[in-house]
Amino acid sequence: MDLNVVILAAGKGTRMKSRLPKVLQPLAKKPLLAHVLSTSIQLNAHKVIVVYGHGGDRVKTEIARHFPAAPIHWVEQSEQLGTGHAVQQALDLLETNTRTLILYGDVPLISEATLSRFLNEVQPGECGVITVKMDDPTGYGRIVRDHSGVVREIVEEKDAGKEIRKIEEVNTGIMLADSIDLQQWVPTIENKNAQGEYYLTDLVRISNDHEVPVIGCRVKDPIEVEGVNDKRQLAKLERMLQKHLADRLLVAGATLADPERIDIRGDVEVGQDCFIDVNTIFEGTNRLGDNVQIGPNCLIQNSVIGSNSVIKANTVLENVVVGEACDIGPYARLRPGTQLADQVKIGNFVETKNIRMDEGSKANHLTYLGDSVIGKAVNIGAGTITCNYDGANKHQTVIGDQAFIGSNCSLVAPVNIGAGATVGAGSTISKEAKEHALTVTRAKQITVDNWTRPIKEPK
Ligand code: UD1
Ligand code: CA
Repeated sequence: MDLNVVILAAGKGTRMKSRLPKVLQPLAKKPLLAHVLSTSIQLNAHKVIVVYGHGGDRVKTEIARHFPAAPIHWVEQSEQLGTGHAVQQALDLLETNTRTLILYGDVPLISEATLSRFLNEVQPGECGVITVKMDDPTGYGRIVRDHSGVVREIVEEKDAGKEIRKIEEVNTGIMLADSIDLQQWVPTIENKNAQGEYYLTDLVRISNDHEVPVIGCRVKDPIEVEGVNDKRQLAKLERMLQKHLADRLLVAGATLADPERIDIRGDVEVGQDCFIDVNTIFEGTNRLGDNVQIGPNCLIQNSVIGSNSVIKANTVLENVVVGEACDIGPYARLRPGTQLADQVKIGNFVETKNIRMDEGSKANHLTYLGDSVIGKAVNIGAGTITCNYDGANKHQTVIGDQAFIGSNCSLVAPVNIGAGATVGAGSTISKEAKEHALTVTRAKQITVDNWTRPIKEPK
């Protein structure tokens, strides 16, 4: 049977105390809802429906940015009258002869593996709910099973008496049923409860009334079903997720100076014997070769770092390709479009943007290199700047192999520095510097004898 997925994401999230809709709150820099959508897409669902409400347009645009290719069906729930009411808004969109899996936009880390298991354990014609045992079940709906283990009822905390509150098995919110059953049963849900809401959880009782058994599938890892309602829960889940991601890196063979002081907001792939010092943040998709050493406090985004390269403390890499055996930092900032071949050295306070630098070239100190193509074994002196921007347009600087640029030069683009050229310190180069020649543009040094410095005038 094909699968439809309905994601409930209309809640206001009052407890977040934020202008940002709850389902857009970031977990590992990705909106909560985007985590759930990624998982839904992995399930090959025939149709994915998101019930949105609060902050609707913002939710749609933000999510579209994360999933440009995915066909997501949006249904509005203009008034948030409860989870049952939310599902009701999607009923018309459900396809015939399908099952519907209901996920929550604020339960972001449910895994594809757990959901696949759930889809296998619950047969068509049955109803299912994912549950978890919690040491502290406060706030969650409690699972009431009969002697045979069938789930009879879910009772919300606010409607529960003392005995029911003692139950530690809780509702994760994730449910599965035949679409046709949902279409018949959901409209019959009432709102006679402590919160005056239409509870989706009433479906369990209704299903039992129709003699359709409700299977409770328990998950072990609470991280998968942790709901996020306020900033404290968001912070807690972020730490749980980071711990899990750090653990994955350790399993892959990386050495982490402290697994609790690394943040991964995306994917990191590591080769053998990589070392990552404390407080480094990885964002987007990053790939490290073998024996890559990363110093403390680096920010690494969407970059590839070749084997045996060293990235020293406080370096920022953003959409960069670093070759093998490079030596970068400390305090370097490599911006988008930077491509370094092998054995390149970029030292402290060097900024690069949209450049190619070939094997063995160096810019060791205090330099800006933008829109440049730099050959092999080039030496860029301290304080050298490519003047790539004329106030309106960007222009290219081309530097040939083995050129030597002295300290504190301005290379006014568009400009070529020939192979093997030497540019004297303090030169402003606005015309081609000939290959294998020395070019110097600074004024000649003069000496004025007995020079008296200006003195302060009396007030
Ligand atoms: C819900 C469950 C509870 C379960 C818990 C797990 C019900 C009645 N209760 O409680 O049993 O233990 O989740 O996290 O289902 N939403 C809408 N429209 C609405 C109301 C909610 O789209 O009108 C969405 C929210 O955006 C959220 C999800 O549904 O993604 C859950 O709503 P929330 O109000 O957080 O329910 P809980 O009180 O946490
Ligand atoms: Ca919730």
